[in-house]
Amino acid sequence: MKISSPVLCVVGARPNFMKMAAVLPPLGAVPDPLPTLLIHTGQHYGAAMKETFFQELGMPVPDEDLEVGSGSHAVQTAEIMQRFEPVLDRRQPRAVLVVGDVNSTIACALTAVKKGIPVIHVEAGLRSFDRTMPEEINRLLTDQIADLLFATEREAVAQLQREGIAPEKIHFVGNVMIDTLRRLLPRAPAPERVVSRLTGGAPWSMDHGYGLVTLHRPANVDQPAVLGSLLATLGRAARELPLIFPLHPRTRQAVAKAGLEAALQTPGLLATPPLSYLEMLGLLRSARVVLTDSGGLQEETTALGIPCLTLRDNTERPITVIQGTNTLVGTDPSRIATALAGILDGGGKDGRVPELWDGRAGERIAAILKARLGNGRG
Ligand code: UD1
Repeated sequence: MKISSPVLCVVGARPNFMKMAAVLPPLGAVPDPLPTLLIHTGQHYGAAMKETFFQELGMPVPDEDLEVGSGSHAVQTAEIMQRFEPVLDRRQPRAVLVVGDVNSTIACALTAVKKGIPVIHVEAGLRSFDRTMPEEINRLLTDQIADLLFATEREAVAQLQREGIAPEKIHFVGNVMIDTLRRLLPRAPAPERVVSRLTGGAPWSMDHGYGLVTLHRPANVDQPAVLGSLLATLGRAARELPLIFPLHPRTRQAVAKAGLEAALQTPGLLATPPLSYLEMLGLLRSARVVLTDSGGLQEETTALGIPCLTLRDNTERPITVIQGTNTLVGTDPSRIATALAGILDGGGKDGRVPELWDGRAGERIAAILKARLGNGRG
């Protein structure tokens, strides 16, 4: 290994960006910086899904953009692998660091391990035990081939050990997503400002608070019957509490394909394009409740003490339910309505912030990597 050989840090999709933003600065920090290069696979692209995030997070422009774009799982994964392999040949990294559970995570981990390059996985060991989720397959496989695994919660460490991963490879370091949340929260705009931008200044009453909604899981949006039922449930809920609903591109397309646009034209429901990270934080911070199927929002609401209703039957982040403010409510309309009414009546879970979700996970990861991969070692 050459002294200058870098750690290649891979991002692909939106939730990867805030995780990597917490790892890159401490890796590069003096006195013993590790050389890093940022590789973007291009799984997510365009201003709303990429550039705005890089700017707000203070991320460097990627050293390489593989520009893979969208496609079926096979096409996207294969395309990332094909485009990543020559990067490895050219850059001769000492390790490849991947985050999360998206297709870019497994594609780059697999490409690297087959070339004998050590793989580092940040956010290892999370399991929903639902193998119909593409992310569950990505998580399981990435963890099996990783050389160093960083976990956000102790249960993830136990799970990795049950799966036969050697304990010395696993480190419980806390949650990098929360590092970035804490760093950028003071810069988040007030909700009124965000709403005024979204409505073009038109009046939209949220005098008694508002809820924040996101939906993008294939299981929730790809089948018109499920999506239709969820949108109807949200429409009814919006009569009790105004709801702001930034639509993921996948969801926007699914709504159009199913001919469900009318369901978004409901009084009290503000359907918007994807928001920037800071605008999302601004809305999140003051929301009365969050309804979501996102993994990141389950964690962010727990860190902020905001009630969260997760519109799924399972979660790979059990700590958000056991210790945090999260409740699994699935997609049944009456269950969602009852849980929401309970929160609006003041019955939300109090929750507590999980161990090591303290804003310093990135520093812990960097310290371990410098000791394990630093110059003269590896
Ligand atoms: C991906 C991740 C998911 C993560 C989510 C966050 C996988 C398997 N899934 O799901 O875990 O929670 O990102 O956003 O990796 N599209 C655009 N613009 C984009 C990206 C996507 O319009 O920048 C549209 C395309 O039509 C695309 C669809 O969204 O086909 C789905 O994109 P894809 O990257 O396949 O998965 P996500 O649903 O975004």
